[in-house]
Amino acid sequence: MSNERHNQFNTATAVRKCMPGWFSESRTFWREYRANFKHTGAVLPSGRSLGRALATFVRERPAEAACGLKVLEIGPGTGAVTRQLCAALRPADELDLCELSTAFVEVLRQRLKDERPFSDVADRVRIFHQPIEQLDVEGRYDLVVSCLPLNNFQVHEVEGILGQLPRLLRPGGTLSFFQYIGIRKLRGVVAGAADRERLAGIGRAMDAMLAGEIRRNHIWANVPPAYVHHVRFEADQVKATS
Ligand SMILES: C[S@@+](CC[C@H](N)C(=O)[O-])C[C@H]1O[C@@H](n2cnc3c(N)ncnc32)[C@H](O)[C@@H]1O
Repeated sequence: MSNERHNQFNTATAVRKCMPGWFSESRTFWREYRANFKHTGAVLPSGRSLGRALATFVRERPAEAACGLKVLEIGPGTGAVTRQLCAALRPADELDLCELSTAFVEVLRQRLKDERPFSDVADRVRIFHQPIEQLDVEGRYDLVVSCLPLNNFQVHEVEGILGQLPRLLRPGGTLSFFQYIGIRKLRGVVAGAADRERLAGIGRAMDAMLAGEIRRNHIWANVPPAYVHHVRFEADQVKATS
């Protein structure tokens, strides 16, 4: 083996030994990305900073807040963001996960069984193995965290998902989601005319929703860097669209 190949081999082995969880999580993610690019939407799980920003409204509550939060994560994947949500849950909180991919659901079930902080709150976490378009639960959520790769979808699919949010969120509830910075513009530059039109349609649908934005985080420490948007759904908006 050449010296260079030998060094690469040693680095990979060292990473696998030091971070077995991260290594196998990333491998599952990469496999899903190759098998289903449209729905997976990323080559690697989100980084810790992005996960923490998405969990902001689970963490940031007055210490004396009495009632529990009902939280929904859409597209938890292997659980990079879920980990931060689980760590921030308080005893009366509940977390629902809605995930399309069978491989990801298996990883999530395993983590809830034997990995902290997932296992600490496993009795208050439910997994719905189905597309979000078909999720039909009783009651509404205080907070929805969406990790969906909307830029990969058709405009009518994005509009359908965004149109469902008022049914899922209680009046005054919050939606937190992320977009990779500049990615729609960048894809628009290299795309053909039809794809450019699709991306512009998605941009318009997102901009309409962002009218209710209450906070935005810039996450530079992620590959690629991302915005996290937090949007409040007001009571009249819920009535008008539900
Ligand atoms: C960009 S990945 C995010 C994964 C993870 N939350 C993270 O940040 O590392 C998108 C996730 O959304 C899931 N997904 C895509 N379309 C979906 C749908 N219609 N309903 C539910 N989950 C979906 C994919 O399977 C994938 O797990």
